[in-house]
Amino acid sequence: MFSVWWQLFNVALWLQVVRMMPQLDEFCEHHSANTMHDFCCDLHDESPQFSDCQSDWHNKIDYTNDEDELLYMFCTAECTYNSTDFLAGNRQSLNLHHVREHLENDLANAKDEALLYEVYVKCDKHALGQLEHKDVKALAKRLIPHGCHPFPGLVMECMVREMILRCPAERFHKTAQCHVVRQYLQKCLQQTKST
Ligand SMILES: *[C@@H]1O[C@H](CO)[C@@H](O)[C@H](O)[C@H]1NC(C)=O
Repeated sequence: MFSVWWQLFNVALWLQVVRMMPQLDEFCEHHSANTMHDFCCDLHDESPQFSDCQSDWHNKIDYTNDEDELLYMFCTAECTYNSTDFLAGNRQSLNLHHVREHLENDLANAKDEALLYEVYVKCDKHALGQLEHKDVKALAKRLIPHGCHPFPGLVMECMVREMILRCPAERFHKTAQCHVVRQYLQKCLQQTKST
């Protein structure tokens, strides 16, 4: 049963990615895997906190359009990082020592641990830098009534992107949709670097 839903989910995601493809603009990284899910890379298991937060926020934000879905995803991200203690009290930075402890307990492989930690450090900085972007500010306003802050969602989006781009070859899902997303992200990066 789970795997059927999983496949449906991946198909839905792929369609979404394809639909977003033409938008190779300044903010293209946000149009890609906006599912916040590193489904293309088997580096670590989904945390139980993430699943709990998903069902919790599904009940709170019963979305019927993309805009509300985005709010749902950002609140789910904050809820997850709250319950894992990854989010610092100011809600604009990560508790990197908690992240490291968690990775040490969770991952058997020191190389994977080092890679993920490096990505968390990068995404922590990256997300902070994006808070002043006008689209993010607009999103922040829409999140206020739900009691959510955009920072954790930006971190999660960044994590997903980085994991798709930097996934060790043997852990990368060799499916059509994962290749499409990866190609899209590579183009997007080139685009933003050259402008
Ligand atoms: C996360 O924790 C902060 C601080 O306690 C709280 O203000 C915020 O509403 C929480 N966010 C979510 C989505 O639960």
